[in-house]
This record gives sequence, C-alpha cells and structure tokens, in this order.
Amino acid sequence: MQRARNVHRVTVPPVTSQSSTRDSDRASALGRVSASSTELSLAGLSVSDLVAEYGSPLHVVDMADLDRNAAAALAPFRDAGRGADVYSSYKTNPIPGVLGRLHDAGIGAEAISAYEVWLALELGVPPERIIYNGPAKSQASLRQAAELGVELVNANSLGDLRQMIAAADSVGSVMRVGIRISLPHMWGGQFGLPSTSSDVAVSTRLAVDSPHVDLIGLHFHSGFGLRDDAAVTMHMQAVLAFCDELRLDTGFHPEVIDLGGSLTVPTVISESRPSPLSRLANRVRRRPEPAPLSSGDIITIAQASRLAWELVTTHFNSHDLPAPRLVLEPGRSLTGDTQLMFTTALDIEDSGSGDEAIRTVILDAGVELAEPMRGGGHATLNTTRPDARPRRHRLVGPRADAADVLVSEIELPTVERGDILAVLDTGAYFVPFSTASTFPRPAVLGLEDGVVSTLRRREDLTRFTEFDPS
Ligand SMILES: Cc1ncc(COP(=O)(O)O)c(C=O)c1O
Repeated sequence: MQRARNVHRVTVPPVTSQSSTRDSDRASALGRVSASSTELSLAGLSVSDLVAEYGSPLHVVDMADLDRNAAAALAPFRDAGRGADVYSSYKTNPIPGVLGRLHDAGIGAEAISAYEVWLALELGVPPERIIYNGPAKSQASLRQAAELGVELVNANSLGDLRQMIAAADSVGSVMRVGIRISLPHMWGGQFGLPSTSSDVAVSTRLAVDSPHVDLIGLHFHSGFGLRDDAAVTMHMQAVLAFCDELRLDTGFHPEVIDLGGSLTVPTVISESRPSPLSRLANRVRRRPEPAPLSSGDIITIAQASRLAWELVTTHFNSHDLPAPRLVLEPGRSLTGDTQLMFTTALDIEDSGSGDEAIRTVILDAGVELAEPMRGGGHATLNTTRPDARPRRHRLVGPRADAADVLVSEIELPTVERGDILAVLDTGAYFVPFSTASTFPRPAVLGLEDGVVSTLRRREDLTRFTEFDPS
C-alpha cells in the first residue's frame, strides 16, 4: 500500500491585509462583531480558504509535531536504554499517513485487531516491532502473528491464551506472549485477568509449560489517566508488588513489562498546557503565549518513561534480578496534540435574555465526528472572529437529534453563521471513533512547512450505499 503523500500546494496566498487589522478596528471589534475582525490563520494559510478548498469539517495534522512527539517519547529509551520502548496505539489514531510518520521516527505498532496487524504490515512495520493486544483476536490473525514472529502477543484472558497456544501449535511456531493483568486501580471488565483471580497463576503455569509459547511479558494498561509523577509512581508500585507476588507464587519473572497507555494529553483544557497548534495560532496573531489552561503538572511520555525505568531498575536490582525491558503504548499522549479540526457554524439560534442569554450554534460536526469534545474538554477558537465580543454558546451537531450536543455551555467570541471554529487536540479518538450515519466524514490534511497534503480524502455521498446490493 502506498502512503498517502500526494502533496497539494495550497493555492491560497498567506493571510496578508485581511490579518493586519488596524488598531481602531481591533478596538471596535471588542465591542461588536466587526467585518474587519482578524481571521486566524494556520502557519500562514487562511483557514477559510483551506475550508473552501477541502471542505468542512476538516482535520489538519501538524507533521512536525508528530516528529517532535515521537522523538521526545523515544529519547529516554535511546539514551542508553534508560526508559521504555514506544509503540503507537493504532486504535487511537489509525490514519496511515500519521502512523507511517511515527514509524519513520522509530515508534513501533500496538494493534488490537486483525485489521490493525494487517495495516502495520502494509506500512512496512517489521513483525518484531508489532505488539498484538485486545479482547478480540481472530484465529487467523493469531496464526499469522505466530508465523511471522510478532514481537509480543498479550493474552487478555485464560481463553485467549488457549487460543494463542492453539494458533502457534497449528503453524508449528513458538509465539512470544504476555499476560494482561488488571490490578484493582486499573480498568477491569473485559480488559485482562483480574490480579486476584486464580486464572493468573493457572495462565502463567500453562504458558510456562507450553512448548508453543514463550511467556516473556506482563501487561498493565491502567485505563485511568496517569496525570503526574505521583500517579505513575503509584501505578508502578502496584505493578512491582504484583510481579513479586507472582514470582513467589509461580517462579515467573518477566523479561518485559508492558505498561500500555493512559498518559494524559498535556493540552486538553482539563489537563494542562495549550497545544503547539494553539501556540501557532497565537503567534500568527502576535498575541502573547496564553497562560496554561490549568495548573496541573502533566507528566510527559519521556518523564513517565524515565521514572518507570528508574523504579523498575532499582526494585529488581535490590532483588538481584535482571530489570525487565519496559514498553509503553501511548495513544492520546503521543498524537492528541498534533491535530485540530475545523467545523463551520451552519446556523445560529438565540434564546434567553440577560444572564440566561445563550446562542446555540449548529455545527457541521456533531457527536458522530467529535464525541470526545463532549463536556467541553477541548479548547475551541472562533477563527473567523477571534476578536468578537465573548458570549455564551451551546455547540450542537447537524444530526437533527436532541442528543447531538457537543458542549452545553462555552464562552467564545460571538459566533455568526458561516464562522469557522477550530477544535484543538483532536489527534486521539476523533477520527477512529467517528461514525457518520448521514453526513460524510471529513478530509484529513497533513501540514508541513506551510504546505498541506491529503492524508485522507473527504468522503462523498456514495459511501453510504457502497456495500448495498443494487
Ligand atoms: C492496551 C492499550 N494500550 C494503549 C492504549 C492507549 O491508551 P491512551 O490513549 O490512554 O494512551 C489503550 C487504550 O485504551 C489500550 O487499551
């Protein structure tokens, strides 16, 4: 498969006179919506011209931010192995152009379905850089993983482990496996074996004794956000205590500890700093850097990686045991802040008066495309009228359905019909979880050095009936 790399030079000129609002205009724009308000631009590209050319809604990925995030995430590991190796969670952002870029930077693949294993192989990821997880692995994909020598397949349950053994047996290979454990502070349910279950020891002994698998790892994806040093330390202490108990019980000591994902996005409003893209927008407007959106001190992938490595190394050295190799599978913390989404106000409706006044904005992106926006966690800008008078808005989607509400209350520069909003940090769980039952899904562009390329084309209406017999 070819990676989508057809570079499209945007024909629009960089924002010039439109953006050079005179001081008098700016002053008046504070009091009323002014036709001469400054439109926000992105790396010198006019947002309205981008949307005119590629349609709305529209996702834009900052390719340089992908490179930066990947290099930062891998730095501790590359620094004489004093950190975790890094695998990108495919389900978080499955755009081939994004994944290919992360792989070019040295990041491995974490797949949770037969499709994702296939995609990683299509993208040229060597099997020994693929980790296969998830509660729904097909037999065919397990046989393929065994044959190809995928780096690590994590068993989600005792039944899953039995399937893995059967698959390896059927192709005559030895599969490298891990067991996914759910500690009390982590996601439970369908995700891994509860640490208190007798199935843990049963699975461990079964894997150790089987000639068809080589048990090398234990997997611990928290599922609940690990925001800071304290949360990572607490998680690691619980992981290490569990490893000690399992060793005492079964004699098994892991070669690999896979910590999964769960590091938070440093840029989503509820979590911390503004994103590179919002900084870009502010630079273009010659505004000072905005203050951090909250005071939380979010741990980065690199900091978590170093901290986990130090805790693991110190712990096992004190037991005269080799320290296991560490693995991280970041999703949101790797790609979340590398993407934004533009969405257009199709219509507005005002209601209430005085303090109760609120403007409802009907956007062309609703919960089908932007479900993670619910609750208002994502910083949102009015790119068309950034200087308009702020007022309360309610952001709803186009689906003609009372449940299509993205944000029930948000203060924004007054939005008028046709304005384009930018939703920041849409690089995790927006594209993969979009459903689009009656409006087509948007294009995804890659932005690099002021030039955009198409990473995913906008859908057209024919997709809705594409697979129906005529
Ligand atoms: C096994 C596993 N690894 C990695 C991830 C990525 O998680 P996050 O986006 O929180 O980093 C997930 C997400 O659910 C997961 O289940």
